[in-house]
Amino acid sequence: MARQKLTAVRGVKDILPEEARRWSEAERVAREIFARYGYGEIRVPAFERTELFSRGIGEGTDIVTKEMYTFEDKGGDSITLRPEATASICRAYVQNSLYAQAGVAKLFCTGPMFRYERPQAGRYRQFHQIDAEALGTDDPALDAEVIFMLMEFLEAVGLSGLSLQLNNIGDAECRPVYAAALLEFLREETAGMGTGGMDESLAERIERNPLRFLDSKDPAHAGIISRAPTIDQFWNERCRRHLDTLCRHLDRGGVHYERNPALVRGLDYYCLTVFEVTSENLGAQNAVCGGGRYDGLVEELGGPPTPAIGFAIGMERLLQLTEKAGAGPGGEPGDQPIEVFIVALGESAEAESLTLASELRGRGLRVDRTFGGGSMKSQMKRADRSGARYVIVLGEDEISGGVVSLREMAESRQESFERAGIGDYLCARLRPSP
Ligand code: HAM
Repeated sequence: MARQKLTAVRGVKDILPEEARRWSEAERVAREIFARYGYGEIRVPAFERTELFSRGIGEGTDIVTKEMYTFEDKGGDSITLRPEATASICRAYVQNSLYAQAGVAKLFCTGPMFRYERPQAGRYRQFHQIDAEALGTDDPALDAEVIFMLMEFLEAVGLSGLSLQLNNIGDAECRPVYAAALLEFLREETAGMGTGGMDESLAERIERNPLRFLDSKDPAHAGIISRAPTIDQFWNERCRRHLDTLCRHLDRGGVHYERNPALVRGLDYYCLTVFEVTSENLGAQNAVCGGGRYDGLVEELGGPPTPAIGFAIGMERLLQLTEKAGAGPGGEPGDQPIEVFIVALGESAEAESLTLASELRGRGLRVDRTFGGGSMKSQMKRADRSGARYVIVLGEDEISGGVVSLREMAESRQESFERAGIGDYLCARLRPSP
């Protein structure tokens, strides 16, 4: 009886070689640009103590209440697969005393994140981020530099037509005042609507964090949102100045942005600057990047007061956009086909073909071969399919004669070459020195 086929878990997907190449290329571009801004790579664990995320991201957030992959390990500790990287990077910053180094600590990481969300186009349960964080100052010049780097990267991978939405969501002084005013407004609106428009869980969510209501995509809420008080009416002098200075830096740098007083983010650690980069070409899940300041997070995690800012780009959405634009990363070695294919007939030829392949690869050529034998005809078919320019045929005669047969596929011509000289010959043809 045929065994049942196993499939991947809902909401996760395989990245096949063609896509993985574009993926690596996007990461390569990020590394190159981020290095120019002084960022170093950090690799943080894929799972952490649950408490890191509940404390860091916020007990009342959707991520913490509904979306975390949390389990008890065999030692009885509550563990969570990371839903994002910022909290982990801050934990690592504190644990490894990175604050002891002078200046701003600039760190980036890439990798999978896990959220139990309802899967749909552009929304997965395992997705990947390129995440950059800069810790150590509240100077709005750092906010500007972080945004410059982000926009330079998005442009370098070929994206255009993006919208940078910018807001300041207040600080520890003015945000609670705003949140209280918004809560009062929303309570009144809810009462006005009776119970009809609002289900209980939404009412609960409003009580827990009224700002999240501004993020609602429900058309029935659009009217309320448009009448709701906005944070700009509550900014204190510091917040107003921070945003004005940032906007001046962005103007001077030629970065286009839209001030959006209704922009809120789904994580509680934010203060002052928040931003998102959206694209019309992404459908409902239209944010390709989100970020902002989190001046209190490091302290919340037991470190010294450390103002900081960062962003995370969603890789799946980024690649979806580069694919749509027909733009984007490509052209690196992985995009180039195999150059030499080795066909081996007989046992000693098989063994020799392994040695020859290693030798040619050692000289920088892209080499493949058949496995599992087969007739000359079937092996040649595979050689043809590989797209290789040269095919080396090794049979018993070649082995005993110390030669190889070389076929240049475009010319259908086959010649005999000294085994010892084949590497030099192929390198001269495939890698001519300028
Ligand atoms: P976030 O807005 O939750 O922020 O996620 C950042 C980006 O990750 C989103 O704009 C989106 O492109 C992508 N993303 C999020 N969830 C999913 C999903 N389920 N499927 C596919 N892509 C997704 C953060 O994670 C913050 N840690 C960003 C940050 C860094 N803030 C400061 N530093």
